[in-house]
Amino acid sequence: MAQAAAMQNRPDAYRDTLATKILATLFYEPSTRTRLSFESAMLRLGGHVISVADANTASVVKGETLKDTVRMVSGYSDAIALRHPHAGAAAKAAAASPIPILNAGDGAGEHPSQALLDAFTMLRHFGSLDGLSVTMAGDLLYGRTVHSLALLLGQFRVRSVQLVAPPGLEAPDELHTSLAGVAIATFPDLAAAAAVSDVLYLTRVQVERLPAGVSKPAPLVLEEDTLLALPHHAIIMHPLPRRDELPAFVDADPRAVYFEQAKNGVFMRMALLRHVLKPE
Ligand code: NCD
Repeated sequence: MAQAAAMQNRPDAYRDTLATKILATLFYEPSTRTRLSFESAMLRLGGHVISVADANTASVVKGETLKDTVRMVSGYSDAIALRHPHAGAAAKAAAASPIPILNAGDGAGEHPSQALLDAFTMLRHFGSLDGLSVTMAGDLLYGRTVHSLALLLGQFRVRSVQLVAPPGLEAPDELHTSLAGVAIATFPDLAAAAAVSDVLYLTRVQVERLPAGVSKPAPLVLEEDTLLALPHHAIIMHPLPRRDELPAFVDADPRAVYFEQAKNGVFMRMALLRHVLKPE
């Protein structure tokens, strides 16, 4: 976090830090923010990026296993940012790889670099995570960003976490375990949870991960009543992309920080890349 803040405050100071290094981005799922911010972070550190336009159109269609692909790509690069539709894929890849694997999202599993940039954004606004009251709302079952955020918040002395989910998308047991030691409350209603929040963290319904035959649950939409209930000092976060849960009119609210949050992804990933590629 301190490194990311240093990168944000003095980006030019780190311009050539990774001048000889190559990052490979291997994405088996769609991405805009995560991929571009990893690539931008690497370029801002003077490093290089290699990539396949869409990993699903590469060797995987010829039947190559993830393990073989990772082994091969590790011969071409110094670190791999991997996004994959299966939970556990990053760990599997790491076990097969001689170079660092950065998990850029593994199915409904984890999205650790997103959690770091989320926590970094909270830190920039509040100075500390200690004592914060955080509401996580939306798809808490298939949304990987909240899984990783819970793991991270569980390491700090946050005051409380409120959970709000549409029926069928409630938080799995693991999320509760991640937050052991934190006061957790489940709310049926977004406005009521918002009223006691410093951070309102919304997520979209991960339609692509709903099992076949399950119809899409109605999202929890951020309406005017929730904005009215949310304290003035609070912030509204979202990992993006948004769907109906976060209407565009919210962008004009001074508490909306999600575009700033997305931008913080570059600083956080600069810190991460520097950490794994240039141990001090
Ligand atoms: C998230 C993801 O891929 O899990 N997006 C992102 O990385 N910013 C959230 C999402 O897709 O809903």
